Amino acid sequence: MKVTLATGNLHKVEEINLIAKDYNIEFILPEGEFNPVEDGNNFIDNAVCKAKCAIKEGKTKYYLADDSGLCIDYLNGDPGIKSARYETTAQKRINKVLDKLKGIEERSAHFTCAMVVLDNKGNLVFKTQQYCFGSVAKEQKGQNGFGYDPIFFVDGENMTMAELSKERKAVVSHRAKALSEVLKWLKNN
Ligand code: IMP
Repeated sequence: MKVTLATGNLHKVEEINLIAKDYNIEFILPEGEFNPVEDGNNFIDNAVCKAKCAIKEGKTKYYLADDSGLCIDYLNGDPGIKSARYETTAQKRINKVLDKLKGIEERSAHFTCAMVVLDNKGNLVFKTQQYCFGSVAKEQKGQNGFGYDPIFFVDGENMTMAELSKERKAVVSHRAKALSEVLKWLKNN
């Protein structure tokens, strides 16, 4: 089965291919420029914006999109849906979070991943939102993954997401949990 994966983020592509490796699904990326306007108020709506932007291609039966981010309780859920735009580079985004939590002991946080599947007419046919719980580390650690992974301590793993192997992240992450729901749905559709 071919499914269009509506993203320009190659880290997500790599993670999604690894999570889905035992399924017979070929993920096709949008051709050319992919610049969706993410003007939704929540992760699901923004994922729908991305999937709709890819449907112009009209090549596959289903269009899958992921919208995700880091939600920090002390910051009332920020950066949340603004995670990608919180600062101009990944390192500056990490520094901004560490600065905002300087001297703060209450560091609980979670990654959120919303995934939606649209059909080739633009109808939303499946949605799920899943989480990975943990806390913001006091300093960054680890080289794997991307984004905020070096400052996210994963509950039950005793290390940051960036210290986990990519195979372990593909089991415990918010994206792994969301994609596993999508894969169950795709199997029956
Ligand atoms: P999106 O591409 O609009 O969904 O932006 C997601 C942003 O949230 C990314 O650019 C990262 O900054 C952050 N993010 C999402 N998922 C992860 C993850 O698995 N690890 C680290 N950061 C993530």
